[in-house]
Amino acid sequence: MIVTTKKLFEAAYGKYAIGAYNINNLEQCMGLFRGNLDSQAPFIIQISRGARSYTNKLMLEGIIRTADEVFPDAIFAVHLDHGDEETALDCVNSGFYSSVMIDASHAPFDENIAITKRVVDAAHAKGIVVEAELGQLGGVEEHVSVSEADAKLTDPNEAKEFVERTGCDSLACAIGTSHGAFKFSGSQGLHFDVLADIQKNLPGFPLVMHGSSSVPQEEVARINAAGGELKGAKGVDANQFKRAAELGVTKINIDTDGRLVWTRVHREFFRDHPEQFDLRPPGKIFMAEYAKFIASKNVKLGSAGQLEALRKLIG
Ligand code: G3H
Ligand code: 13P
Ligand code: ZN
Repeated sequence: MIVTTKKLFEAAYGKYAIGAYNINNLEQCMGLFRGNLDSQAPFIIQISRGARSYTNKLMLEGIIRTADEVFPDAIFAVHLDHGDEETALDCVNSGFYSSVMIDASHAPFDENIAITKRVVDAAHAKGIVVEAELGQLGGVEEHVSVSEADAKLTDPNEAKEFVERTGCDSLACAIGTSHGAFKFSGSQGLHFDVLADIQKNLPGFPLVMHGSSSVPQEEVARINAAGGELKGAKGVDANQFKRAAELGVTKINIDTDGRLVWTRVHREFFRDHPEQFDLRPPGKIFMAEYAKFIASKNVKLGSAGQLEALRKLIG
């Protein structure tokens, strides 16, 4: 069942965070649904602009609609990740997405507000909810590369004004994470002090943490042992998700870790079976491993086991 992120956040606020997972293809979609049902968790499917153009935006939409039929017990939101205005409006008008992100965080404050407000007005007119972003994460977002030096943590006072003036439904905050597999070069970590101040200014308002892959060292070691070169990859400590949830984070974005599962499975498979050229055997292993990965992430997020309570709540 496709629901808005608003419904998911109402149930989760202050208690747990919902996993927001990016997918690009059929195998990820199958593993995603299985993993969430195995762990009895509600979830958010994230579709980036890159995912929409990987094949054709309708292709991924068709796969997800079919998964909804194949797994009728699943409760999830379909969300555009890091949309620009044009893509966000396209998704709003598509009738498929229940939630969109408008990411104008690279623009000056007033311009970010103006762009976000236009998307919010169009989305709300159709019952679709909007995530916006204030502050800048380090790392690479689609078409925008932000160096560590240029990354800018969210200002808690600006956050309050931003939410009031835009009417957005949730806010992605920069609190020290970055996208990709190389998040921290030294001892940097999450800025819980900033998060606590944002929550103080916006009590009860759902916050979003991007760039939250953990980049498990065991996964990196296996990839490197099978021919990869991911030296120095480092991520967010998943044991900190619970504290973030208590401070108002209701959505935690994870993409890179899923890509690492794919890379590890396929590198190891073809290293160990050099005679193979059928794509299905590693595909099957990947779907099972991805499902396992999703289920274990949901335990860290606290969303595992919440499905039935949520079903009762939304009726
Ligand atoms: O924040 C970016 C997400 O990980 C999506 O990545 O734009 O390469 O699909 P992508
Ligand atoms: P990671 O690169 O840490 O997985 O972050 C994903 C993300 O924020 C998608 O919007
Ligand atoms: Zn992101």
